[in-house]
Parts: sequence; C-alpha cells; structure tokens
Amino acid sequence: MPTTDEQSAQPVLQGPQQSRPVVEADTVVMVPAPREGDAELVQNADDLDTRAAEQEDLADQARHDEESAAAVAEARQSTGPAAPAYDPAEREAVLKVMRERRDIRNGFRSDPIPHEVLLRVLEAAHHAPSVGHSQPWDFVVIRSADTRRAMHELAMRQRDAYAKSLPKGRAKQFKELKIEAILDTPVNIVVTADPTRGGRHTLGRHTQPQMAPYSAALAVENLWLAARAEGLGVGWVSFFDEREMVRALGLPEHLEVIAYLCVGYVDEFPDEPELLQAGWSKRRPLSWVVHEETYGRRALPGEEPHDLLAETVAQIRPLDAKALGEAWERQKRMTKPAGALGMLEIISAQLSGLSRQCPPPIPEPAAVAIFAGDHGVHAQGVTPWPQEVTAQMVANFLGGGAVCNAFATQVGAEVCIVDVGVAADLPATPGLLPRKIRAGTSDLTTGPAMTREEAKQAIEVGIETARDLVAAGNKALLTGEMGIANTTASAALISVFTGADPAEVTGRGTGINDETLARKTEVVRRALELHQPDPADPIGVLAAIGGFEHAAIVGLLLGGASLRTPVILDGVSAGAAALVARAIAPEVLAACIAGHRSAEPGHVAALNKLGLRPLVDLDLRLGEGTGALLALPLVQSTARAMHEVATFDSAGVTEK
Ligand SMILES: Cc1cc2nc3c(=O)[nH]c(=O)nc-3n(C[C@H](O)[C@H](O)[C@H](O)COP(=O)(O)O)c2cc1C
Repeated sequence: MPTTDEQSAQPVLQGPQQSRPVVEADTVVMVPAPREGDAELVQNADDLDTRAAEQEDLADQARHDEESAAAVAEARQSTGPAAPAYDPAEREAVLKVMRERRDIRNGFRSDPIPHEVLLRVLEAAHHAPSVGHSQPWDFVVIRSADTRRAMHELAMRQRDAYAKSLPKGRAKQFKELKIEAILDTPVNIVVTADPTRGGRHTLGRHTQPQMAPYSAALAVENLWLAARAEGLGVGWVSFFDEREMVRALGLPEHLEVIAYLCVGYVDEFPDEPELLQAGWSKRRPLSWVVHEETYGRRALPGEEPHDLLAETVAQIRPLDAKALGEAWERQKRMTKPAGALGMLEIISAQLSGLSRQCPPPIPEPAAVAIFAGDHGVHAQGVTPWPQEVTAQMVANFLGGGAVCNAFATQVGAEVCIVDVGVAADLPATPGLLPRKIRAGTSDLTTGPAMTREEAKQAIEVGIETARDLVAAGNKALLTGEMGIANTTASAALISVFTGADPAEVTGRGTGINDETLARKTEVVRRALELHQPDPADPIGVLAAIGGFEHAAIVGLLLGGASLRTPVILDGVSAGAAALVARAIAPEVLAACIAGHRSAEPGHVAALNKLGLRPLVDLDLRLGEGTGALLALPLVQSTARAMHEVATFDSAGVTEK
C-alpha cells in the first residue's frame, strides 16, 4: 500500500542549458594576404576577384550588423510616451470576450438573427489580418433547411466513421457528445479560403502556401468573438470530408473550406468548454506551453525557467488521508461482508486517496504508452533476438497486429507508441510519437548507457507523454515497453535498488538457454562492477545502466503521479523504472498499481521492494504493456463498485 506520510523528495539536478551562439557586431573578416608558395591563393585573377567581392560582402555585413545593433540601442533609449493602451474597462471588455467565447453545440434557439447584427459580425471577421493583405476568405451564409439537412447528413456519416475508429473506452464517452448544431441554428456560415487570391506574388505566401488558410482561420476567430459580444453562439463543425463538402455546396473547386459554423442565439454560454465539462479533455496550464528563449526552458514572464522534472516532482503528493478514510468507511457500508473484495478494496481506497474523491473517478478511458528503445548491451549476446526486432515490433504495434493491440481492443484502451531510442529511422505514422533521444543506448559493459542529460531528456519524454495523455482525457495510464535486450538493463537496475545479487534478478527474458543466461548474468555483474552505481543518485544509475524506455517510464510514473492519475505497471521493466522513480520521489507510489507479476525473477524482487502486490499472476513475460492491460478491467471494476454498489442503509439490508 503506498505511503500517505509526507516525505520530501530527492533534489533533482538541473542540466546545463544550451547557450545560443553569439555573433559579435564588430567582427571584420579580412582576406589573408597570400603567402609565399601558397599556390591556391594566387592561382588566378578570377579567384582574387571573387575573394575581393567576398571581402566587400563581409564588410557590408559587418556594417549592417553594426547599424542594426545601433538601431536596437537607439530603440531602447527612445523617449516620450508610447502609444496609449486601452483604458482598464475597455481592456477588460476585450479580455472578457476572449475568455467567454465558447464553442456552442447545446441550447441553441431558433430566434432569427437581425441583419444588422450579422453584418457587424461579418465586418469583424473581414477585419482579420491576412498574409500579404490578401484577404483570402469568403463567407457563404446558409439558411436553407434543405442545404442544412444535406450538410447534416454528411456530418453524421463522418461522425459514425470517427466513432468506429475510437477505442471502446473513448467511444462510450463520444456517444454522449453533441458535435454539431447544423439543424438547430437559423444560420450556418461556411468560411472558405482562396489560395490564389492576391496573385502569384502575395507577400509572405511564397514559401508557405498554408498562410492563406491560416489567415481565413483568423477571420473565423474574429467572427467568433464578435458573435459572443452580440450574445450569439457559434459552433465549429469539422466532421466533413472537405472535398465532398465543396462539391455538395457547389463551391468553386479551387476554394478550401476552412470552417463550417453554426450560428444562433443560445440559452446560456457555459463557463468552460463543453468538452472539458463532459470530461473529454482537460485544460493545459499556461505554464506548460510558454518557453523562454529556447524550447523546453519553460517560464512564465517574470519567472525563472523551471525544470520540468523538478516541477513534476514538486507536484507529487501522498494519498489524501480524508478521501482514504471515506473510502474505508464506504467499503464497510457497501452491501457485502467487510473486506470481501480483498485486494480490490485496497485499490479502490488508493484511487480515492489519489484523486481526493470518494467514490473515485472510474479510470476510463485509459491509454497504454509503449516506449520503444534499443540497447548497446545487445552486442554482448544477451539475447538470441536480433536488434531489428525492436523496430519491426513497433511497426507491428502500429499496424495493430501485436498482442498488446488485441488486449487493448478487448479492454477498450488507446495504444500510444513512443520512439524514445529505436536504432532505426521510423516513418511518421499516426499513433507513433517521434521522441528519439538517440538510436539506442551505448553498451553498458564498456561505459555509461546514456549521458546524464540524455537520461533526463528521456524522463522528460515520459512526463510529457503523461501530460498529453491526461490532458486528452485519459483517466488511467498503463506502462508498456519494447526493446530487445532490455531485461538485461532491468536486471541491473533492480540489482542496484534491491541490493540483490545479479544471479537472483537476472532472468531468461524472451526465453534464453542456460548458457546465454550465464552470460547475461555475468554482463550485469560486470556492469555493476564498472559503474559502481549509487542508488542515492537515481538519475546517475539510470544513465549508467538503464535504457531510454526505462527512463521514459520513470517520467510517465512521475508525470501520472503529479497529475493524480493512476498508473498501472506492466512487467519487469516497469518494476525497474518504478524503483528509480521511487528513489527520485517516494510518493510516486501513491499513483502506482502493479498490474501483474511477470515470470522474470527480478520482477518479484522489485515488487517486494516497492511493497506492491500484483493483480494478475499468469506467468506472462511479453512486455508491451500486456499485463497492465489485463489488469485494467480489475482496476475499473473496483472504482465502479464504489459508485454503484448499494450501502446497507440505502438497500435496507440488515448488517451482521
Ligand atoms: C478548428 C476547430 C474545429 C472544431 N471542430 C469541432 C467539431 O467538429 N465539433 C465540435 O463539437 N467542436 C469542434 N470544435 C470546437 C472545439 O471542440 C472547442 O473549441 C474546444 O473544445 C474548446 O472549447 P471552447 O471553444 O468553448 O473554448 C472545433 C474547434 C476548432 C478551433
């Protein structure tokens, strides 16, 4: 059972920041004088001409740099009042309309929209900025019931197609959502972009043709804001095949449809996005998306850049004692003998303490994050499987043909594959997150597997994955991994954090013979002798003997815990990663549920050390998140029982 006592987390070191190259404005580059015997420099007159021209260019550049530096200095020194801002009431009105703009799908009224109101809204849209002032938009105002019915039919077809593509856990939720109000609104507006508008030389569009549709999207935003100010709701419908819609509306073929908008008066404007209210998604805090100078240096204006790992660790809290107490109480009053759900009662109490709610949210939808990486230690002959199998299995996951896919379909979970270090170039494919730190670790028997900075980067990939999956509405995360030779690194990590001898924690992985097992055990022993890893320095241990996927799982666990979201652990690699995560932040265990016990001996040692009891024990030794996926319905069932099982008082059942 995870701890509820407050313990301070280990400090996390900040990695070195990359500095940007500085170009000095007063650098004047001189052509070297020809040296005696320097044939190349005096070879011919043309060459000298070229050099003279280059010298002039460089001098020009230096002059230009000097001038722009002077201009910047001048700008900084400018005196006199700046252009006035809006007064506070006006500013507040502008910010208010941005905050209170909503995408509306429910509660539209059929009241007609007066022409002058619609005109003001369209004028606002037409004031939008546009590339090269090309104003590429047109607005087709649709009122006809027949046209709206035709559009509604197209949207319904796409809705069905999307619903079929969803994992079961998501599809259930999607069924409850209204995604358009085509027939409920008196006016629909189609916003198009004409990519030819403004002519061939449209300023700013020469390298970026997408600037035309971007400009039209800004017109949509203006329209949306102006509509809000008029008390008009707008709902954007994108459930269309764009070309099909162009044909159905009889639009000129060269136009692009940017938005199909449903516009009308509404009963009310909700405070929050409807998708957020429905639990479909969560709002990402501003602090996640503002970077200072370089991507990854997150800082809000006026703040010091914060380290993602340190920030995540600081947000991890132990289980909430009040919700935990309520859960135990509720368990006693539910219509069943006290304790009759055994281990599942402990899990439901943990879910309550983690979420600070009793009953806890049902952990659905769920997503398994499968981190894939390769291992330099493969060269030591620790497995008969060739290294290419890692990349091949990633392709198999993406094609839906692996065991994890079958299990995920069965339990209704999303499969998210993350390339964190596969030793092959993987083509961009939907469902694959390209987050490669390096194409495989180094051989841990000859040096550190990763640099400290790489280990930290891989942890951050895991944290970001947790953030993404949770913001997308997942209420449980599952660990998965793929990496030929990764049970060697797992055994080494487990040996360090449990103190067990390599012989006790090194297993047969994918099924190796006695000779390979002896070699693998020796490899683990040699690695530990070489690095003398210090368990008090978990990131150092990870860098020396871990894998990219282990580090990413560490991040997923820390990220999940910081977002108070349960994480179901898969097998031995997850166990190894959990030991590292616990050494970084002991309270991470508040979020961890051991999905299963694998056949690897190291896994038992890891679970014992973590104090976690596995839910499923079926001699699995596959990885890919398969054990965690099998455990998911158990975890969901226990939360559902808290919601749905009557109490003795409510059901009128006599207690013992
Ligand atoms: C480009 C774009 C396309 C959208 N398409 C749809 C859609 O097809 N169906 C829908 O229900 N909402 C759609 N929305 C609305 C978003 O779901 C909504 O903006 C988001 O949940 C945030 O809510 P808010 O606009 O109320 O802040 C779309 C929004 C945008 C910007």
